[in-house]
Amino acid sequence: MAKVKVPATTANLGPGFDCMGMALELYNTVEAEIIPGGLEITNYGRDTELIETDSSNLVYRAMTKVFNRTNFHPTGIRIKAYNEIPVARGLGSSAASTAAGLLLGNQLSGNRLDIDTLIELGTEMEGHPDNIVPAVIGGMTISYLQDGQKVRYLRMGFPDKLRLVLMVPDYVLPTREAREVLPKSVELKDAVFNVSRAALMVASLMSRELEHLQFAVQDKLHQPYREKLIPGMKDIFETSYKWGARAVFLSGAGSTLIALIDEDNRNFIDRIRTSLAKQVLKWELNCVNVSKQGAACF
Ligand code: HSE
Repeated sequence: MAKVKVPATTANLGPGFDCMGMALELYNTVEAEIIPGGLEITNYGRDTELIETDSSNLVYRAMTKVFNRTNFHPTGIRIKAYNEIPVARGLGSSAASTAAGLLLGNQLSGNRLDIDTLIELGTEMEGHPDNIVPAVIGGMTISYLQDGQKVRYLRMGFPDKLRLVLMVPDYVLPTREAREVLPKSVELKDAVFNVSRAALMVASLMSRELEHLQFAVQDKLHQPYREKLIPGMKDIFETSYKWGARAVFLSGAGSTLIALIDEDNRNFIDRIRTSLAKQVLKWELNCVNVSKQGAACF
C-alpha cells in the first residue's frame, strides 16, 4: 500500500498570476493499493459530494498518467482519500489530488519517475504550474515555463512571523469559470503595474520590509475581473486592512480570500469574524502557516 499527505496551496498572491504559489498547513491524506480487479474510490472528510468516484476522479487520472508513462498495468486500484482541503474554493484541491495521484502512482509502480517529471505531468494536467509546484515541494515558490514547455521553479523563504488567515465562503467557484472572465490581452500599463508589484512582493518578503506588502499585493491582471464573481470581496479587503492585515488577496482563482497578518495581531480573527457575519455569503475562518515540507510519502 502507498500513502501520501499533500498540502493545500494558494496561488497568485495578488500580482503573481500563474507563477507565485505557496503550500499551506491544511492537508489531504490519500492511500492507494493494487487490488485483483476494478476501481474502488472512497472519500472521507469535507466536500465528498463534489468529488468523483469513477475513472474521472483526479487522483486516479493522475495515477494513470504515471502508469502510462512507465508502462505499468495494475490489475485494479483501491483509493481512500481523507480530505481537509475545501473543493473548488481556490485552495488547490485539484493540484493536491493531482500531486497525490502522481506520487501514489509512482510509489505503486516502483518510483521510476523523478520529482521534476512528476511536476511536468502535473503541470500538463493543471494547465499552469503555480499550485502543483508548491503542493509537491512545499514553501513559497515562483514557477515558470522555460521555452514555453519545461517547468522550472525556485523556492523562496517566507517570513516566520506572518500567518495566513483563510476566509473560505460557502460558495464553490470552479477555476474554469473564474478563468473565463479574464481578458485575452491586457494594456501595457497594466502589465507594467503587475511587473512592479510582483517584483516588490518578492523583495519585500525576502528583505522582511513588510510595510511594502500592502502595495506589493496589488494586481490588475485577474482580481479586478474576478471581483464580480465574489460577493463582498471589496468590502472584506477594506475591512481586513482596517483590522491590521499586512496584505489581502484572492486565493488562486477564488472563492477564498487570504489575509496575511502578523503573528501577534491577536484580535484580527475575532474582528474579521464579526465583520464577515454581516456578509451575504457564509464565511469560514482558518489561520494557518506555510507548509514547509510539501507532499510527504509514507
Ligand atoms: N493561477 C490560477 C488562476 C490558479 O488564477 O486561474 C487557479 O488554479
